[in-house]
Amino acid sequence: MTAQKIQQIDNNLNVPNYPIIPFIEGDGIGKEIWRSVKQVLDKAVRTAYGESKKIEWKEVLAGEKAHIKTGSWLPEETVQAFRDYLVGIKGPLTTPVGEGIRSLNVALRQELDLFVCLRPVRWFKGVATPLLEPEKVSITIFRENTEDIYAGIEWNAGTPEVKKVLDFLKNEMGVTNIRFPETTSIGIKPVSSEGTERLVRAAIEYAIEHKLPSVTLVHKGNIMKYTEGGFKKWGYALAEREFPDQVYTNNTFVRIKNAQGLAAAVKSYKEAEENGKIFIKDVIADAFLQNTLLKPEEYSVIATLNLNGDYISDQLAAMVGGIGIAPGANINYKTGHAIFEATHGTAPDIAGQNKANPCSMLLSAVMMLEYMKWNEAADLITKALENMFKDGIATHDLARFMPNGQSLTTTEFSEQLIHNL
Ligand code: NAI
Repeated sequence: MTAQKIQQIDNNLNVPNYPIIPFIEGDGIGKEIWRSVKQVLDKAVRTAYGESKKIEWKEVLAGEKAHIKTGSWLPEETVQAFRDYLVGIKGPLTTPVGEGIRSLNVALRQELDLFVCLRPVRWFKGVATPLLEPEKVSITIFRENTEDIYAGIEWNAGTPEVKKVLDFLKNEMGVTNIRFPETTSIGIKPVSSEGTERLVRAAIEYAIEHKLPSVTLVHKGNIMKYTEGGFKKWGYALAEREFPDQVYTNNTFVRIKNAQGLAAAVKSYKEAEENGKIFIKDVIADAFLQNTLLKPEEYSVIATLNLNGDYISDQLAAMVGGIGIAPGANINYKTGHAIFEATHGTAPDIAGQNKANPCSMLLSAVMMLEYMKWNEAADLITKALENMFKDGIATHDLARFMPNGQSLTTTEFSEQLIHNL
C-alpha cells in the first residue's frame, strides 16, 4: 500500500491506513524526546494493528535546524506541508530573540487558523502533586487561539502611532479615563461572536462525543462587558440554538427558578441530567482558578478566551505534575488542520543529557492518535504509562518527587515503555 494524505471530507477527517504525517523534531531537547516518541508510537501502532496500519513520517524543518539549513526559521515548505497533510506534530522550538520576530508557534497557529488550543488535564496515579485529591482533576481546556488581547494589536508608549490612537479615543470617542496619556501604551482586545461560536461549538461537540457532563464558559464578563461578557452571552446563545436536544443551560435553570421557584428548577435540572444532557454553565475566571483547587470535580470541559486560557493551562498542568507531562494541540475543527505539540519549551539547561521527559510530546501524540480515531494504539500507550507511573518509574524530573521513584534516562524510559506496551 502507498502512503496517502489525510483529508477533510464533508466535515469529517478521512484517515487512510498509511497516512503521511509531517513532524518537526524541535530544538534543544526536541531531538531526544522526538526519537523516543516516534519509537513508542510506531510500536503501539504495530501492536494494535499489525501491518494493516502504519504512519509514514515526513520530516519538515523549523527553528534552529531550519535556520542553519535554509536561512529561514519557518520555511514556507513547512507551513505548506502542514497545510497539505492536515495533521502534524512538533517538538518545542526556540523563539528567536529580537523585536519584530514572531514566535514560530504563534506563526503556525495564525497561518493555519488553528482556533482551538486543546489541553486535556488528568492526573496519573503515582505522579507527585500539590493536591490532596488529584484524582478529582479531569478537565479539558478549549482555549480560543486567534482573538483577545493576544491578537498582537498594540502600540508602544511615546510613538506617533499611539498618539494617533489616543487622539482618536479622546476626540472622536469621548474617552476621558486614560490616567496617564503621555506615557501610555495601548493594546486592543478583539472578541467576536464568530470567534466565540466556533470555539464553544467545538467544546460542546467534544463533550457530546466523549460523553462528558458539562461545559463551563470561563470569562471576566463582570469587568469587560462586551468582550468577555459577549463571550458568555454568545456561548450560551449558541448552545441553546444549535444543541437544543443535547444541552441544558444555566440560563434555563434561572428562567425556571424565577418563574416557578427553586424546587421546579432543581427538578428540571435533575431530569436533564438523567437524560444525559450536558450542563452549560459559566464562571468568572478568578473564581474558577480558586475552585479548581477546592472542587475540581465540578469542571469537565471548559471554554475560555486566549489570555485566561494561558494562565489556566499552566495552573492546571501544575496541579497534576507540571509541564513535563502536559500535552496539547492546536486545531481547526472545520478544516481538520491540527498540530500536536509538547507544551514545554526547549529546556536548554538539560538538552543533550538524555534526561528530558518525553511524556508531554508523547501524550500529545496520543491525542493525535485519538484525533485520527486510532484509539486502540492510543489506549495502549496510556495504559503502559499509567502502569509505569504507578510503580514510580519515570524520568528524573518526576521520579525525584515520587516515593520509591526510580529515575530513568530518556532512552531507558522509552525502552521500558515499549517493552510494556
Ligand atoms: P522550558 O519549558 O524550556 O524550561 C523550563 C524548565 O522546565 C527548565 O528547568 C527545563 O529543564 C524544564 N523542562 C522543560 N521541559 C522538560 C522536559 N520535557 N523534561 C524535563 N524537564 C523539562 O522554558 P524556558 O526555559 O522558558 O524556554 C526555553 C526556550 O523554549 C525558549 O527559547 C522559549 O522561547 C522556548 N519555548 C518554546 C515553546 C514551544 O515551542 N512550544 C514553549 C515555551 C518555550
